[in-house]
Amino acid sequence: MTQAKFIEVFPDLGSLINRSLALVLSQIETAIADHGYCSLVLAGGSTPKPLYAAIARQDLPWEKLYIFWGDERYVAADHPDSNQLMARLAWLDQVPLPSANIHPIPTDSDDPAVDAQNYDRKLQDFFHLAPGQFPQFDIILLGIGDDAHTASLFPQTEALDVCDRLVTVGNKDGQPRITLTIPTINQAANVLFLVAGASKKPALAQIFAPIADDKFYPARFIQPQGNLWWLLDAAAGEDLQPSS
Ligand code: 6PG
Repeated sequence: MTQAKFIEVFPDLGSLINRSLALVLSQIETAIADHGYCSLVLAGGSTPKPLYAAIARQDLPWEKLYIFWGDERYVAADHPDSNQLMARLAWLDQVPLPSANIHPIPTDSDDPAVDAQNYDRKLQDFFHLAPGQFPQFDIILLGIGDDAHTASLFPQTEALDVCDRLVTVGNKDGQPRITLTIPTINQAANVLFLVAGASKKPALAQIFAPIADDKFYPARFIQPQGNLWWLLDAAAGEDLQPSS
């Protein structure tokens, strides 16, 4: 497993999305060549939406792609805030990707902890994990909030301390979310952060600061054993030193 960290800054969102598409397509090809399929974890929010639309325009071996989510708001799958709905409308409903390959985070048990356990078990089954093992996703896409959260790992929340499970309940201002845990994300072969907009600048300054309290800036916890890309537009990343 190669471990490299890359910071790339682009003049605008369009060029950021083009680069992220090229990286994702390359990593999909590599994963399929290596083990016959690609496990891809989708980010929510708005930034990745044009990437999903761009992927939908590709001609890929869709039956070899397995789709998961890094987090989900605790709403119905047809709710406008649903990360699953966003990805289905932008991409998944536009291509012949088998529905059996799409693994949304459940939010229908009325108890977020039960849904988190169910998703945890689904991941254990999919990856044939022994107790205590963490899955190695081929690609995990992430964003960050203005508060430096990522997935649904919010500052100073209990989810940041969960290291013995794959999935847990996040908490955004008292609202439950379901999220992959830090160790699950850090097991990935490739993690790509897509970050755009000036509002993310202060968070990035703390995330990349030599010293800061990780619990106040959760994206700092994401140090994958695989490759890590920070793909930034200039508005967000102009103060950071791109990788040489
Ligand atoms: C979510 C996401 C979250 C998102 C960031 C950035 O459920 O909202 O998983 O972690 O990636 O909040 O969101 P934007 O891309 O909309 O800025």
